[in-house]
Amino acid sequence: MFLELRGIKKSFFNGEKVIEVLKGIDLKVERGEKIAIVGPSGSGKTTLLNIVGTIDKPTSGELLFNGKKIDYENDEGLSLLRRKKIGFVFQFYHLLPELNVFENIIIPGLIEGLSFRNIEKIGYELLDRLKLLHKKEARVYTLSGGERQKLAIGRALFLKPELLLADEPTGNLDPESAKEVLNLFLELNKEFHITLIMVTHNMEIAKKMDRVYLLKEGFLVEYKKP
Ligand SMILES: Nc1ncnc2c1ncn2[C@@H]1O[C@H](COP(=O)(O)OP(=O)(O)OP(=O)(O)O)[C@@H](O)[C@H]1O
Ligand SMILES: [Mg+2]
Repeated sequence: MFLELRGIKKSFFNGEKVIEVLKGIDLKVERGEKIAIVGPSGSGKTTLLNIVGTIDKPTSGELLFNGKKIDYENDEGLSLLRRKKIGFVFQFYHLLPELNVFENIIIPGLIEGLSFRNIEKIGYELLDRLKLLHKKEARVYTLSGGERQKLAIGRALFLKPELLLADEPTGNLDPESAKEVLNLFLELNKEFHITLIMVTHNMEIAKKMDRVYLLKEGFLVEYKKP
């Protein structure tokens, strides 16, 4: 199994009391699958995505990649897994506005210490793939929402992750751009066999995934397609 969650629980202290957001999440995902997670605001979707992405630690329960339990004591191993195997696409892009398109997309390569030749090659290939090559010197603040999201996806793909986590990636896009971004995800999943877990409020988009889960009252319930 590529990814497995076993009895994941997560509580937060909100200043007054402890609230249990995730009450026992079990999920198995095969390599290359596409999973959608839907649920009301505040139900814990981002919390769950952060735990899968090892950005956050569960209060209890286990997370396994390729059958191997995540060891939260092993900071180095965790950061390696996060950098090399997992790509994140956030709802609000998290791009660096003062840098241009090319500079934004290559950030993971710079952090990873790849050679500049390699970085350039991957950067230009990705921009070409995303149809953003003509914008390579444009500053981020001059881009449309759809272009920003494509750039954020490109950046998440820079180190060829096995798992792509996307938190409402079409939430701020007009229907046309949302469709384009969705198609990009579907193509990437097919071409590179990237496993995709996507949080979305859009049921039409959710239904394009292999499985849809509803996060409600701390549990995941599979939504069976009619
Ligand atoms: N670091 C934190 N400290 C305290 N409470 C938190 C923290 N992170 C999340 N929460 C709480 O956990 C609950 C779930 O938050 P989360 O952001 O996961 O919801 P969500 O389903 O992603 O919502 P949305 O659809 O609005 O993005 C909320 O009540 C939130 O206030
Ligand atoms: Mg959220």
